[in-house]
Amino acid sequence: MFVIGGGGREHALAWHLRRHYPDTALYCAPGNPGISALATCLPISVTDLPSLANAASSLEIDLTIVGPEAPLVTGIVDLFEMRGLPIIGPTAPAAALEGSKVFAKGLMRRHRIPTAEHAAFDDTAFALRYLEGVPGQVVVKADGLAAGKGVIVCDDFAQARSAVEAMIVDRAFGDAGRRIVIEERLEGDEVSVFALVDGEAVALLPAAADHKRALDGDQGPNTGGMGAAAPVPLDRELRERIRSEIIEPTARAMCAEGRPYRGILFAGLMLTREGPKVLEFNCRLGDPEAQVILPLLGTGLPEGFSALREGRPVPDGLSEARGAAVGVVMASRGYPELSETGVPISGLEQAASEALIFHSGTSRRDGTVTTGGGRVLTVVGQGGTLGEARARAYRATDRIRFDGMHYRRDIGARLEAAAHARSAVVPVGRR
Ligand code: AMP
Ligand code: GLY
Repeated sequence: MFVIGGGGREHALAWHLRRHYPDTALYCAPGNPGISALATCLPISVTDLPSLANAASSLEIDLTIVGPEAPLVTGIVDLFEMRGLPIIGPTAPAAALEGSKVFAKGLMRRHRIPTAEHAAFDDTAFALRYLEGVPGQVVVKADGLAAGKGVIVCDDFAQARSAVEAMIVDRAFGDAGRRIVIEERLEGDEVSVFALVDGEAVALLPAAADHKRALDGDQGPNTGGMGAAAPVPLDRELRERIRSEIIEPTARAMCAEGRPYRGILFAGLMLTREGPKVLEFNCRLGDPEAQVILPLLGTGLPEGFSALREGRPVPDGLSEARGAAVGVVMASRGYPELSETGVPISGLEQAASEALIFHSGTSRRDGTVTTGGGRVLTVVGQGGTLGEARARAYRATDRIRFDGMHYRRDIGARLEAAAHARSAVVPVGRR
């Protein structure tokens, strides 16, 4: 099997495949020092699609799984399928669900999938005139991929105006911001929902909670994700609503529009008073959500995709979480604005007896593992409860050291408190 990518999510994917398919020959491109303990790493960039296909062909890879969105949106699945190479993931037309917010919002509107009200623009004057007419707060989003940064949640008109101008006029996000979406700002708790999708067939995985802000208590700037916890204890009725009002209609809509979806569908949802609504779709697993979901699965993802394709029931090991997991991202000095690299990391072996240590951004220099990016490690504690999982994750982070490291102390704390209160996480799901 072949994993495309080189971050914490892909380390977790490689670990998951190694665990469920111990005898498989495992490759990863480009991989990282953590992944190299589990798989043979090939020095190929995730955007070099022809070289990835050549490698899959010459190594006679039986299945390729793609971690990040960029190769999906630019057509890695289309290329592999054209060359007869087995791969799981959406084709480029299907990956537009993440690659173009204008397309995703239009699809949701056409098929009445619950999401924030919106309008799309490529002209500043029209956008500003629209802003003057909307009551309440808005969110301004760049249409294309902007490495998780193209979304500005605005408190007032002045902020919204500068967001529009920054995107369309100043091209703060390059061509990704040539078109923009302005949408209603929703209130509620966020949850990351993941489903295996094959045409109209879907199967939900356990849900996770991301922690996007840099500092404790959801303060500070937005980041790629400072930690995650799973499972989010959605009650049965809410899970059913998510399936029947969002995931299944989206899968049907993609088929109806001639872009059948096959792969992992990630719906970022806001649990509002009126029910779950879509904030965004992604065409892949989340990072750091993958690092907490994959360890809880009792069955391999490829087995789930085979079951969907053959019309068999998907094994319970994919829908039900075995215990709980909390993943703490340890970041470099300066992250998210900038990040220091090349700093030696100590304590990895000691920490590994307590938790899973997934490498997010590391390098190896003269035999020593050093920091190699903003998000350096995802330290995942597991346990029967979220409380146990949290305690393990933080005992492990206590053993790891690198100059300038910082991480949140409250990953999973809200979910744990909610579980203690024996209440559902959010009071929605009842009509
Ligand atoms: P996205 O990349 O679309 O998930 O947006 C990044 C973050 O912006 C989300 O995780 C939310 O916290 C926030 N966000 C996006 N859309 C909205 C919205 N309509 N209302 C409130 N917050 C939003
Ligand atoms: N954790 C959010 C994402 O992967 O997009």
